[in-house]
Amino acid sequence: MRVKVNGETHELWTLWREGSEVKMIDQRLLPHRFMILTLYSHQETAEAIRDMVVRGAGAIGVAGGYGVAQAALEAQGKNQKTFKAYVSEAADTLRATRPTAVNLFHAIDKCEKAASKGSVPERVAATCAEADRLAQEDLEASKKMGEYGNALIKDGFRVLTHCNAGALAFIDNGSALAPIRVAHRSGKHIFVYADETRPRSQGAKLTAWELQQEGIPYALIVDNAAGHYMRLGEVDFVVVGADRIAANGDTANKIGTYEKAVLAKENGIPFYVAAPRMTFDLKCPNGDGIEIEERSPDEVNWVWGADENGKYSKVRISADGTVAKNPSFDVTPAKYITGFITDVGVLRPPYRRSIREALHTRKGSVG
Ligand code: MRU
Repeated sequence: MRVKVNGETHELWTLWREGSEVKMIDQRLLPHRFMILTLYSHQETAEAIRDMVVRGAGAIGVAGGYGVAQAALEAQGKNQKTFKAYVSEAADTLRATRPTAVNLFHAIDKCEKAASKGSVPERVAATCAEADRLAQEDLEASKKMGEYGNALIKDGFRVLTHCNAGALAFIDNGSALAPIRVAHRSGKHIFVYADETRPRSQGAKLTAWELQQEGIPYALIVDNAAGHYMRLGEVDFVVVGADRIAANGDTANKIGTYEKAVLAKENGIPFYVAAPRMTFDLKCPNGDGIEIEERSPDEVNWVWGADENGKYSKVRISADGTVAKNPSFDVTPAKYITGFITDVGVLRPPYRRSIREALHTRKGSVG
């Protein structure tokens, strides 16, 4: 992605690997500060996923794969048996970070498999190669989603999106924001409504920032305003990302997505989910099987932000002792989804069939 920092423009990925080090943009500090963190071990990478230094389904998938590669490098001096035990424990540590986005589990499984054949040096090389391949695959999937999604966006469209499914949620470009970027770059006049996405405000902090960096016209709106604009006829198209999509098309995405989908249907607005094949989970027959992450009530009771001098701090917005609940995701039933914008095309109902076919389109696909 193209990022302007202190007047200088940089082209960079959300995260990348340099030998045994993983580098990533610290998303907790955006948009007030821009900082790259270096993670020196798989434990530090796991902590970065848990603490949402890196977040978004695609990006945590790649981070999980890199974490397994770090573990393999850490264990390269061991014999085959202790190497296997070390990598498997590291993989479990990485799996235990966040439960909902399936990209994380697919990536860790693939890298752990790569670590299971041949001599120890061969296993180390294969694990690193697999982690790097997954990052490349993520990058290419975003490009494809951009192309397929752009074909659905007409000149003049006002597009609503929820949370951040942009470059920061992947290696680059994103899922829901990828078609928006391509539409804008191809000269279409589009306007984006970005939901702020309480409690962590990924829409306000990340999506609005990405749109601003790219020069795409947008307005940040509070989550509760989406229905208002839909009823007024000011939204032509809704596109969101996904963290896990069940075999029947039921979709887990950031909390608040479900109500946007119901409102879109009520108002006759197409509602699309953009996600690479890595986000589909054929082992989940429907949305009831998707674990919804429950995060700390502190995220509801406190907000983080910067004052006019750029000083970053957190303030309490509820009375001391307030009881809060904080489900991080919800499930949108497939019947509300007009189509899935994937890296192999747009999938239409009946989803059980179109999803199964898409996942078996090419060798090495997931599911
Ligand atoms: O909790 P997060 O920020 O990791 O949640 C992920 C998301 O940003 C969204 O749910 C997004 O729409 C899908 S991720 C491509």
